[in-house]
Amino acid sequence: MHPILVLFSIAILPVLVLLLVSTNHKPYHNGHPLPPAPWPRLPLIGNIFWYSPNIASLTAVLGRLHNSHGPVVSLWVGNKPAVFLDCHEITHKALTQMGTIFAHRPTSWFEGVNSHGINSTTYCGRWSLLRRNLSSHLAAVQHATDALRSSIDGLVKNLESAVAGTEGGVIAPSEPFRHAMFSFFSALCYGKQVDEDVLASLRDLHAEIISLIVELDAFHLMPALLKLVYYLPKWRKLLSAQRRHHVLVTALISACRKQPEKVAGCYVHTLLGLGLGEDEMVSLCWEYMNASVKTTTTALDWIMARLVLHQDIQQKLRMDIAERPSGNLVPCCEPRPRRPFLEAVVVEALRLHPPAHYLLAHTTDKDVILDKYAIPKGSIVNINLANIGRDATLWTDPNVFMPERFMEGGEGSNVNCISGAQTTTKMLPFGAGRRACPGAAIALTVLQSFVEELVKWFQWEPLERGLMEEPSIDMIEKQGIVTEMRIPLRTRLVVRQH
Ligand code: HEM
Repeated sequence: MHPILVLFSIAILPVLVLLLVSTNHKPYHNGHPLPPAPWPRLPLIGNIFWYSPNIASLTAVLGRLHNSHGPVVSLWVGNKPAVFLDCHEITHKALTQMGTIFAHRPTSWFEGVNSHGINSTTYCGRWSLLRRNLSSHLAAVQHATDALRSSIDGLVKNLESAVAGTEGGVIAPSEPFRHAMFSFFSALCYGKQVDEDVLASLRDLHAEIISLIVELDAFHLMPALLKLVYYLPKWRKLLSAQRRHHVLVTALISACRKQPEKVAGCYVHTLLGLGLGEDEMVSLCWEYMNASVKTTTTALDWIMARLVLHQDIQQKLRMDIAERPSGNLVPCCEPRPRRPFLEAVVVEALRLHPPAHYLLAHTTDKDVILDKYAIPKGSIVNINLANIGRDATLWTDPNVFMPERFMEGGEGSNVNCISGAQTTTKMLPFGAGRRACPGAAIALTVLQSFVEELVKWFQWEPLERGLMEEPSIDMIEKQGIVTEMRIPLRTRLVVRQH
């Protein structure tokens, strides 16, 4: 045979074999069309990895699929479709009208730190018990002003010394934000201010474990076969980090157990009453810290970035705060007085920059029809909630930061992003329906309290253009489990005279 033909056969053969073995993209399930998906897809592997090997590329891939096929599309994870919704009406139907059907979570064979968490528990009695327990704990600590005060004071001090130690007061506040959030939520989780060195070890372990977990896997978007390939080389490191986390958290739990009286506002104490095993308690503490810190820190980064960018809104907010009684000095356990403009700034930032762009993976325990498409039992179902908040058919000038839209009479004034049973899903930074975030109310309180104090104590200014040879502020996103700022916030901080 001619050498060119031989070379051609060698090059073309694998493609032909691939096409032959590739699963025929049967577009129907029990007589109903399946959500459109790109082709080809391979047995056991599917095609998600082919099109989107990481979370960073997922949004772009899905954007192209939605553009050509509409609001319901799919990619295949092994032999399961991962269905993505990009339309607020269909989302509303799935999460609220068909809420119980889509309230399940996919299962995983991977026994990790998260495996006993509320978020990974399927929709059943255990989930309901744990979720009710967390919700009542969070409602009880909603006005835990002592812990809040102490974390905010610590943050203000940290920022003041950072400013004093730099030329021109230029600082990167994200790390101090994270430290303050970690200290606040750990105080609620373990019932007291955790010692600084233990806190530092816990923070490092969280960072280490998260860096070892593949982001696609966090959304159940990794075919089992690839999981094996990815995790095998990291297995020992992951097990070691999880073991060290287990030891540290068990010690904190034991300290709570030894306390003679139940400490009010301590999550671990509520868990002790439920008769859970040690692994379950460690996993629930991991979830508590993991679900709360990264999301609130990321939200605070975006809010403060917006206030740096929009000096007029920062000034208006400062004046509004000065005119009303302080929300953060109310005695413990009393509700904060309402501050509509502060609330509007926080909610507008969450609309434009929700920390999570996707929900956690949902699934169904039976075959269902959604918007004419068949969703087979066990499919992964997810929603691009960031697109809904920026949808031009729902919001005027959706890309403009305009807190006034959430003030009385504004187009967002009837939006309630806390309640699970939302009547509208015009924005859903915390999800909606049965699985909506149980931490939404406390997250909003914490964010409002932090922003109030940060604006009172400091003037947040942009860096002068050209001075640092970088734009004053870069609002481009870095996609991940949470969507952070691609270039972490840097600002010139001026301590205000009181
Ligand atoms: C700005 C802060 C936060 C944001 C943006 C946020 C967002 C979310 C989102 C989008 C979900 C997924 C909903 C779904 O899959 O349908 C979720 C679930 C969850 N969040 Fe949050 N969250 C925040 C803070 C918190 C806090 C402070 C806690 C607890 C201390 C918390 C605990 C949870 C838990 C346990 C779940 C799983 C609920 C379930 O599966 O039933 N979150 N959150």
